[in-house]
This record gives sequence, structure tokens and C-alpha cells, in this order.
Amino acid sequence: MKRNIKEIVEAMTLEEKAGLCSGGDFWHTKEVKRLGIPKIMLSDGPHGLRKQEEEGDHLGVNESIEAVCFPAACATASSFDVELMEEMGKTLGNECQAEGVDILLGPAVNIKRSPLCGRNFEYMSEDPYLTGEMAAAYIKGVQSKHIGTSMKHFAANNQEYQRMVCSSEVDEQTLREIYFPAFEIAVKKAQPKTIMCSYNKINGEYASDNEWLLNKVLRDDWGFEGFVVTDWGAVNNRVQGLSAGLDLEMPSSGGVNDERIVDAVKKGTLDEKKLDQAVERILKTVFECADHRDKEAVFDRALDHEKAVDIETECAVLLENNGVLPLNENKKVAYIGGFAKNPRYQGGGSSHIHSSKESSALESAKNKNRNITYAKGFTEIEDVIDEKEVQLAVDIAKEADVAVVFAGLPEVIEGEGYDRKDMKLPECQNHLINEIIKVQPNTVVVLHNGSPVECPWANQVAAILELYLGGEGVGEACDRILWGEANPCGRLAETFPLKLEDNPSYLYFKGDGKKVKYQEGIFVGYRYYDTKKQQVRWPFGHGLSYTKFSYHNLRVSKKQMQDDDVINVFVDVKNIGQRTGKEVVQLYISDRTTSFGRPMKELKGFKKIELKPEEEKTLEFQITARDLSYFNEAMKDWYAASGTYGILIGHSSRDICLEEEILFETKRLLPMTIDGTTTLGELMNDPRTAPVLGQIMAQAFGASEENSNAGLESDDATARATMNAMPLKSLASFAAMPENVYENMLLTLQDVVKSK
Ligand code: BGC
Repeated sequence: MKRNIKEIVEAMTLEEKAGLCSGGDFWHTKEVKRLGIPKIMLSDGPHGLRKQEEEGDHLGVNESIEAVCFPAACATASSFDVELMEEMGKTLGNECQAEGVDILLGPAVNIKRSPLCGRNFEYMSEDPYLTGEMAAAYIKGVQSKHIGTSMKHFAANNQEYQRMVCSSEVDEQTLREIYFPAFEIAVKKAQPKTIMCSYNKINGEYASDNEWLLNKVLRDDWGFEGFVVTDWGAVNNRVQGLSAGLDLEMPSSGGVNDERIVDAVKKGTLDEKKLDQAVERILKTVFECADHRDKEAVFDRALDHEKAVDIETECAVLLENNGVLPLNENKKVAYIGGFAKNPRYQGGGSSHIHSSKESSALESAKNKNRNITYAKGFTEIEDVIDEKEVQLAVDIAKEADVAVVFAGLPEVIEGEGYDRKDMKLPECQNHLINEIIKVQPNTVVVLHNGSPVECPWANQVAAILELYLGGEGVGEACDRILWGEANPCGRLAETFPLKLEDNPSYLYFKGDGKKVKYQEGIFVGYRYYDTKKQQVRWPFGHGLSYTKFSYHNLRVSKKQMQDDDVINVFVDVKNIGQRTGKEVVQLYISDRTTSFGRPMKELKGFKKIELKPEEEKTLEFQITARDLSYFNEAMKDWYAASGTYGILIGHSSRDICLEEEILFETKRLLPMTIDGTTTLGELMNDPRTAPVLGQIMAQAFGASEENSNAGLESDDATARATMNAMPLKSLASFAAMPENVYENMLLTLQDVVKSK
């Protein structure tokens, strides 16, 4: 239905407008009956519906409807499969339609800065590009069903400790390169209907009050068209927030903040236009949702459960395998560990789904009459070593051909609202694994966790399968992979360091509760480990298959690139094994110019393809100047220096198979400040000042212009280095330059720079 929203806003009273900017109850906006404005429902999210019909809460405590729990983002990101993500989004969108939910609170796209963040299970990756692409696909899928999404939590919310008050202290380059791009990519590609701002402060200012964040970056720079909603209860100063671009407060402040808005408008401290703008944005989405309700939609829980199984099958990551997997039907296999029976497949808190069905690996194996035995070994909920249980497990492991230990993190260790204390598995599990490997060389470990764990036994086991928090179908998916009905094809969306202390944020993570400094800057995840050449347990992008792939024939459409060029990159990939399988081909860019402080490589493309044995396909990627760029704070923009860039194609960040170089040339010039600290080297290397340098040197030393650069171009390395590093203030004193000559020199150079 076509509506004139501006006219509706004009017809609203000040009180009605202020009222529309906060929730009517825990999950709904307000309706204004006299103007035909309906209310809409928002619900968590992200990997299933947590629709609460009665008492609402944001902690996952009260009842929600029976729904389907899909794999959490830690798992789905590992699929590296944008089509799969979009399909999952469509399924969720359809469920929302059937249940009368208008906005699904997801995806959650905060970057995994540290393995300790309690909510990592709900987040996707340490890499912003992967996160952004996967988030965009999810949003497209959900929104294709006319259901809004709420991408969260904007921004720099990378820990749970003091999440409601702590200030994330991050420089702009790091925000723009690491913590923002997932939001930026998804806004530009998929326009989520809403964005949820985070609880925390950013550099001292609450996200919900932050004009720079909500209006400048989100709207002016990226073109966000939807409305901004608070995280539940995240308002700090309602009037300032409204003016800063925060549209909807959820759930509500019982009318207190609505009154503040009304007062501020009446007193003239808040421009009513700002309020109108917020109301317009909210109404646009309210009507879009209300006008597209699909009364025919059906939530088929059984069907969607099967989808959850299929999705998890594409997400699980085979980390190690000496050939023991897939399991052989004729072999006797001992299933060990509480998680075999009660898998941990989702996290606690606001994303907690009331699943209508669950599947365990044990039950799935029994249903298929597999030749297995079972012993608990340890309980999945606490860290208690029970030697009797251990012995029973050791006994069945000894008797079997293969032992599979189902390990993982209990919910008390990771969840919303609290961070992990270390990166370890519970001691009872490490103890059990160590006992099992003493008697059974064919030991497989299956992991259920939302974030990396230290695996001190990794080199002593025969295989390791990472399931992450794989949703309610995790048991069936696990069964398919273990027994070879499916070929594993997930890849790590995050690095597994050997130990927590290796993580770049280790010294700064958590902060003092008031502030947390992001001192590692842009060196997050593999950007740090690979640049530092730090040994890791498993690198970003890693994952094995039951088949093998080879890469050939990397070629680029051109080797010289300018600012507006697009370069096409082609590579042939072949399945050289015996089984059909899927490969994730990754493209990284490596800055080989002299730019300072850049990571060794950054992911700028990935594609997942299925290949039959002997089948070969050509993949194509595109590269633009932005892919080569870093965020230059002086320029307040993205910038790539002229010079050489490597294009790396690989299977993981540490397994680069092919490499090409391109030469980039930019016409853009970095801002240049001329003062006493400017060095002769800088002047010589800048196209604006290089032509006048001879003249300056001649003035300084009284030499002829031709000879004046002699020092800078000398064959003597020491002389050259000394001259290059010479600041103008020192040049002036060496040359005994009178004050006015020195001032003139600076002015001439400043004019030259200004005029270009
Ligand atoms: C969480 C959000 C969630 C909201 C509503 C908050 O505590 O941080 O992610 O969507 O509650 O449940």
C-alpha cells in the first residue's frame, strides 16, 4: 500500500511522535490507532526464533515458543558459504512470517578480538570481510521474506565484561579496518532494516549517544537507510541520543524518556525535525513489515529441523585426520563423553532457542544401527574427574577399533554476560582424552564449543572434528561426517592459537571495567599471527576434506592498476581425490609497498565450490583499489600507496598455493604538513615537493641547483641516509640559515603543497 509517511508524521501530536520512539512492551513498538499505525514485533535472533508470548526478558530466562535452533554464527561462518547463509536467512524469514515476528534481532557481527569473549559463539569471525559477506547474505535472505533484520551490536562490543558501561578505546584506523567493515559491507550490500547500537562506550561516548557513529559513519559515509534501535536498555541520554541518530529505544523506559523528548522539543533544546526524522524512519519499516504480512506462511518445524542438520553438515570443520575418518562400517567404535548424548549446540542468553527437537550423535548412530559402544567418561555440565567413569571409558576404548571422544565447553564457561577465564577445556576432559590415547591410537576428538580451545593433545590423536555450537541438528550432522555420508567442508573463520597468551589482545583484553584499550590495533587474528610469524594450532581458513584439491593457473586481467581499475583474477581448481567435495578458495592481498604497519595479508575474496573427482572449475574474483587500501587517518579516507601488491590464492591463510603481483599507481596524494620536522627524504619522495627540492637546497647551501641534491642521491649509503633523515630545522642550523630565509623556505614549500 502506498502511503505518504511525511503526512502521517505531520498529523501526529508531539506526544505520539515521542511515544513512537520507544517500545510499547518488551518486544513491540507502539501503535497509534487513530492514524492506523500498527505495532510491530521484534524478537531474538539470530539463529532461530526466541519469540516470547508471555513474560519478556533479554536473558533467555522466560519461556519462548518452540522453534528450530539453527547452528550459531560461530558455526555458520565456518561454512564460508554465502548461498547457504542466504538460504538460512530465508528459512528464518519464513518462520518469522508464520509467527508474526516482524524484525529478527540479528545477525550479530562483532569481531572476535579474543577467544575469551563470552559471546563469541554468536559472532562470526576474526575477519571483517568474511563477517560482512556472511552477514549481508543472512540479511538478504531474511529480508527477502519482508522481515526486517537488526544487525548488532554497533560497535566495538567485543567482550561481555562490563559491556554496559565499559569504553572501548580504539583508534579510528582500527575501527574502520577491523571493527566497522562487517557493518559497512552489509549496509552497502543488503541494507538491514535496522541496526542495533551496543551498550558500551566508544572512546568515552556511549554508542547510543554517538553522533559520529550513528549519523556520520553509518548514514553519511555508508548510506544506511533504516532505523537505529538500542540494545535492550542501552539508552544513556535519550535526548542526546535522538539527536545523534538513535531512533527507537527498546524495550522502553515506561514513558520517562518519551517525556524528556517532549520537554526538550518544547524548551527548544531538541529540534523537532530530528524527532520527525526518527519517526519517519521507524514508520517506513513499520509499514513495510505490516503491509507484507504473509498469512499463508507455515512454520514447519520438522522440515526446518532437517535444514538445520543440512546447514551444520556444511559448517563442521575437520581439523586433523590421519585417515581414521571417515569411520568404517565394519569397525567397532567407542563413543565417549557426555556430549555424545547431550551435545552442547547453542549458547546461553538472549539467543537461547526453545528447540522443538534435538539430535545427539549417540542417538543418531543408534538409529542407523552403527557398531558402537558408549561410556560417559565425564559429565558435560561440570569439571569433575570421576575415575570410575574414566576407567569405564578406557575399557570400552581399549576394546574398540576406534574411540571418539565428544568434548566441549559447558555453558557455565561461555555465555552472554560473562567472558571466559582461560582458553582451556575442563580439566576432566583433557584428563580423559589423555587416558584414552594411552590405550587407543585411533582416537578421534569431536569438539562442541563457541570459541577456540587449547588442544594440548592435538598431535597425539588421529582426528579432530570441530562442530562449534551446531544447532539442534548437530548430532545427525556429526554422524553423517564421522561415518562418511557427508564430506566435511567447513573452514575456520578464526585462528586457533596454541595458547591464550599468543593472542594479540592478551595483555589488554577486558580492561579495568571502565576502559578497555585495543592496543593491538589492526593486528587482530591472522593479521597478527601471520605478520608476526607466530606458530598457531590451526590457521584461519583451515579445514580438511575427505578429498584433495589442486590449484593452477592463477592469472590476472592486467598487471598494472590505477585508482578506478578493476582487476579480474582467475584460478583453476581441481578435485584430485576420490570423492565429491567442496573447497573454499581464499584470496588474500599482501601490501608490498613501503606503507607502514600493514598486515602481511588480508582476506579480500572467498568462494566455495563443489567438485566431483577429476572435475576442474575456473573461479573469478575482482579486485578494486579499496581492496588494497588501508584507512589513512590524516586523509580520513581509504588509501593505497603506489607500489607492488601480492595476490595470494590459498586454502588457508597459512597454505598459500599460488601468487601473482600487480603494480598499483595512484594519483591521490596524502596530506602533507610542512614544518621544521619535515625531512629531506619526505620532500624528495613526494611528487609535490621533489621538483622544488633542488632550489631549496641551493638556497640553503649556496650550491648550484644541479649539485644541490648531491647528498640525497649520493652513492655513499651513510651520507644518503643522513641527508634523507635530515629535518628542515636541522638543515637550517647546519646551513646557518637566517631566520627569514628559513621561514621563507617553509612558506614556499607550504605553498607548493597547497597548490597541488
Ligand atoms: C542482547 C541483544 C538482544 C537483546 C534482546 C540484549 O541483552 O545484547 O543481543 O537482542 O538483549 O534480547
